[in-house]
Amino acid sequence: ETSWTLKDHPKLPKGKTIGVVVLDGWGEANPDQYNCIHIAQTPAMDSLKNGAPNTWRLVKAHGKAVGLPTDDDMGNSEVGHNALGAGRIFAQGAQLVDLALASGKIFEGEGFKYIKESFENGTLHLIGLLSDGGVHSRLDQVQLLLKGVGERGAKRIRVHILTDGRDVLDGSSVGFVETLENDLAQLREKGVDAKIASGGGRMHVTMDRYENDWNVVKRGWDAQVLGEAPHKFKSAIEAVKVLRAEPKANDQYLPPFVIVGEDGKPVGPIVDGDAVVTFNFRADRMVMIAKALQYENFDKFDRVRFPKIRYAGMLEYDGELKLPSHYLVSPPEIDRTSGEYLVHNGIRTFACSETVKFGHVTFFWNGNRSGYFNPQMEEYVEIPSDSGITFNVQPKMKALQIAEKARDAILSKKFDQVRVNLPNGDMVGHTGDIEATIVACKAADDAVKMILDAIEQVGGIYVVTADHGNAEDMVKRDKSGKPLLDKSGNIQILTSHTLQPVPIAIGGPGLSAGVRFRKDLPTGGLANVAATVMNLHGFEAPSDYEPSLIEVVDN
Ligand code: 3PG
Ligand code: CO
Repeated sequence: ETSWTLKDHPKLPKGKTIGVVVLDGWGEANPDQYNCIHIAQTPAMDSLKNGAPNTWRLVKAHGKAVGLPTDDDMGNSEVGHNALGAGRIFAQGAQLVDLALASGKIFEGEGFKYIKESFENGTLHLIGLLSDGGVHSRLDQVQLLLKGVGERGAKRIRVHILTDGRDVLDGSSVGFVETLENDLAQLREKGVDAKIASGGGRMHVTMDRYENDWNVVKRGWDAQVLGEAPHKFKSAIEAVKVLRAEPKANDQYLPPFVIVGEDGKPVGPIVDGDAVVTFNFRADRMVMIAKALQYENFDKFDRVRFPKIRYAGMLEYDGELKLPSHYLVSPPEIDRTSGEYLVHNGIRTFACSETVKFGHVTFFWNGNRSGYFNPQMEEYVEIPSDSGITFNVQPKMKALQIAEKARDAILSKKFDQVRVNLPNGDMVGHTGDIEATIVACKAADDAVKMILDAIEQVGGIYVVTADHGNAEDMVKRDKSGKPLLDKSGNIQILTSHTLQPVPIAIGGPGLSAGVRFRKDLPTGGLANVAATVMNLHGFEAPSDYEPSLIEVVDN
């Protein structure tokens, strides 16, 4: 039985308005020409940095500090916001799947038993992101899964791939498809009829999130389920190579394609009696396809056919919705988040971002939980994102609108915590467009300025931080840190996140004198932020939370 009552902080007062700003994809790195944050005009963030070491510092945002399997894993928004909101480090999906595969438990659970019933007469379809990015999925996990299902009686397997280029280098899709084809050939030698059946780029096919654009999911449905797509190929390697050769093509946005046999017919539409596994462990970009595969009643697009299948996710993607109903690995149980505690202790909370990051400051922040803890105490505002564009053409995104909402919420004095995510550094950084990312960073900084000004006006406190790096390093580097060149001597643009630490700054007129960052937590990470924010609201954090980053010294 959880006691939700937080102890009063012995020194810090209650009743201050706190602005919590998360700059998405905003890490700290050496200043050079590939550091868009350094190049951009960012006076607000620069001035915060002047407070180092007492009111500005760096925190870890990657690897084990956020529950990822190793310190070679870059940070990402899911694990970053989970850590920020939950105040503790939970083993995350990537690691839970690794463990379940290593122990073999994945093949003994309820989810696997459920899909296995289709192995005798049906086809097993695997749908997901094909890369070693480790953010949404990992190729080595897919390989182990394929081997495991082959050994356990799957007779016919069809893989529906989504090419990446966002968590990994653009162009790496070809190598991943070759690796997969090799594994499928090995299965065929063992008598399993295993093939790639369809594909497409992750940002154009299937992996939309937060209902930004259902057309993305529909394109996937048409190819994966109906076997219909504008492009037909005899092999996936040919498909990826040919489609990538189009002007401006890249892995993230490849058009949908289906693989056809000698007879010109698609080799693997999904039909009655089949089993389907979506093999991504991360939830945000799987929720929409999971709904399409699971829900009898569904009106987001015309599915044409709704096959009777046995569907399981790699993980459960939404604990509240119980979606999907079957899954191979149980997700981390992120309980007792700071948001839930604070609401129980009278903190009225406002959260806002635009669609593409809305779930980050709500769903991920609250431990992968949809909706309000208490609608009387909370207001979550989503600003619709532009859909159907790549954000390098609109690098300012909705930063200004988000900041205006935050400003108004702060000035209204109706809230104790006003929390936003500013997506620019991340969403534009993922396009690999350096010029646009510089504009993006400035737009995020302008938004920070507006929010800090509002905090100033109400005598409040600000906490400005980030979830992981991205815009601060836009080039792939060798071990010594030198930019890597490709065969033609061009630099290799880094579209992905980084391993860099992120800044955290505190301040504002409401910050009590004597509050400063402790010096004895040099390895502090994002999970230390929740206790910090609780302190600033005037509470002690629960004893099992990662320690607060601040101390109060008498002066
Ligand atoms: C994405 O889903 O856009 C990327 O794979 C990761 O980005 P995010 O973790 O910043 O959302
Ligand atoms: Co990102």
